[in-house]
Amino acid sequence: MTIDAGTCFLTDEKATLAFGAALARCTGGRGLLTLRGNLGCGKTTLCRGLLRALGHTGPVKSPTYTLVEPYEIGELRVFHYDLYRLNDPAELEYLGLRDFIDDFTLTLIEWPEKAYPLLPLADLELNLQVSLEGRQLSWHALTPYGNILSAALTLLAEQLVA
Ligand SMILES: Nc1ncnc2c1ncn2[C@@H]1O[C@H](COP(=O)(O)OP(=O)(O)O)[C@@H](O)[C@H]1O
Ligand SMILES: [Mg+2]
Repeated sequence: MTIDAGTCFLTDEKATLAFGAALARCTGGRGLLTLRGNLGCGKTTLCRGLLRALGHTGPVKSPTYTLVEPYEIGELRVFHYDLYRLNDPAELEYLGLRDFIDDFTLTLIEWPEKAYPLLPLADLELNLQVSLEGRQLSWHALTPYGNILSAALTLLAEQLVA
């Protein structure tokens, strides 16, 4: 069994929310996760499932225009970025992205490719693609912590589709 990567077919929006919730259980509220995929493939939906599972009860808006939405959930800090409208990776400095990447923070980044090459290495990179009526999700780990997340996700993903 490979532990540094995996895939999962998400049949509908509910499955994407459930996968986000599974990811929340794996992270324990820290790490840098990037989400790639075209507009409308479910990146924000996955983040919504994740934030709700961490205990956030309010709305989860897409940070399309604000570029970042911060959340405080008890002791947890989560920063949800959508860099689609980032014109230049250098603008990241104004968003303080690097300041928000530490061991006590979970950082979620949609459209990470807009920030290359200035983005720190993600723990886990997730990729969503429209497939038939649902979404094909794949992920791979880029750090030792990402490997742990990936292994845990592999087990949880099996339960999700079972
Ligand atoms: N697994 C899925 N199957 C079908 N539709 C989905 C799935 N996951 C999410 N969606 C739908 O895709 C649409 C776009 O989702 P969104 O999360 O805003 O995408 P993105 O952030 O990638 O632009 C929403 O209407 C959502 O309900
Ligand atoms: Mg989005």
